[in-house]
Amino acid sequence: NVNPMPREEGLDHTLSLAREGYLYIPNRRHSFNSDIFETRLLGKKAICMGGTEAAELFYDEEKFMRQGAAPNRALQTLFGAKGVQTLDGPEHKRRKEMFMSLMSRERIEELIHLIRKEWESEVSKWEGMDQVILYKEVQEILCRAACQWAGVPIQENDIKERTKEFGSLFESVAAIGPNHWLGRAARNNVEKWIGELIEEVRNHNLKPLENTALHAFSWHRDLAGNLLDTEVVAVEVVNIIRPIIAISIFINFTALAIHQYPDKKAKIQSSDEKYTEMFVQEVRRFYPFFPFIAAKVKKDFIWKGYKFDVDTLTLLDLYGTNHDPTLWDNPGLFNPERFSKWKGGPFSFIPQGGGDYLTGHRCAGEWITVEVMKAVVDQLINKMEYRVPEQDVSFSLVSMPSIPASKFVINHVKRK
Ligand code: HEM
Repeated sequence: NVNPMPREEGLDHTLSLAREGYLYIPNRRHSFNSDIFETRLLGKKAICMGGTEAAELFYDEEKFMRQGAAPNRALQTLFGAKGVQTLDGPEHKRRKEMFMSLMSRERIEELIHLIRKEWESEVSKWEGMDQVILYKEVQEILCRAACQWAGVPIQENDIKERTKEFGSLFESVAAIGPNHWLGRAARNNVEKWIGELIEEVRNHNLKPLENTALHAFSWHRDLAGNLLDTEVVAVEVVNIIRPIIAISIFINFTALAIHQYPDKKAKIQSSDEKYTEMFVQEVRRFYPFFPFIAAKVKKDFIWKGYKFDVDTLTLLDLYGTNHDPTLWDNPGLFNPERFSKWKGGPFSFIPQGGGDYLTGHRCAGEWITVEVMKAVVDQLINKMEYRVPEQDVSFSLVSMPSIPASKFVINHVKRK
């Protein structure tokens, strides 16, 4: 029994998507009273869906594929060409193992140690500053720590410029015009720089530590037993450093939440680490980051009476699933306590994708992200004092990625 999907009338809705941003899919799920609907994007029929069941379907490898799903402009800035995001099946699994091999508890602890060290030396600098734009300063901390963690040598003189370049990879993702071109230029520069380092590793002129990304990826072999092309290794090393720097966005929201919810801050101070983790999880659920992710229908199939045609672009609603009133009580309320009774599950809390890490595309850096955010909560609350001057901390649910307007300014910084 095949039924027509609820369908948005009209020739094309790419502009509505740009105009409504994070709320484009949730708004229509609400008005159609359906977790799935058909629309037209980039001149073609597309399917949008959200909620637990839709997420589970989206991660079914038999039904969806990633090859050809990401729009070109995202490949040119955010992702890079031929990276793990674009692979399917055994090839993807092999490449994903390469990423997950870096995610041991010990390696994550090393990264946290590097970040704390950099953070503490920055606090000394902040003590002497009239005002600190947290977003910008944190990006430099993360850039230093991420490069070191990845085995990528970087000169202190280059930190500012490289930080900007990595930043523009994720800040330009939805941009059109000049910012899109800035993002593309930044990707070319960064990939060229990392590419030269990979050549040096392969010529044995540069010897990064063994379990760093630069070492592991330079010597990684694909299913056929071959080393990856230099360009591809560069894309994957950038796939480690760029998103670590992007945690700055969640860190800005973390600082904002600490400021806006003083009762939660007090609870962090009086509770154990478990509450800090709940707080961090709520930051990841509540604030906007990735609105949705894209795949293509792999072969024709029918689900709940709806027909999916091969090659149809399909978007999974991440933001809307994290705010789905059938999954979360009062989703618009910032409430870390909700995680004390949260039952878990791979398809309902999906700020960094859902499903399985190895066999699916779920974010390779989710554990890192949570640990970095927990360490930052500790630094902000227990290791330093600061004031938050009057400023515009509003953030948009339209522009992607969403960042508080002031980029979070603090002053009167003092070490505790
Ligand atoms: C994939 C979000 C941090 C590495 C993803 C995906 C999302 C995401 C939504 C796509 C999932 C899918 O397509 O099914 C985020 C957010 C982060 C973050 C919001 C916070 C800053 C990180 C970090 C790393 C990382 C710190 C690495 C150190 C990756 C990689 C993939 C990925 C390699 C591709 C996985 C694959 O295609 O199999 N991330 N991520 N991410 N992320 Fe993250």
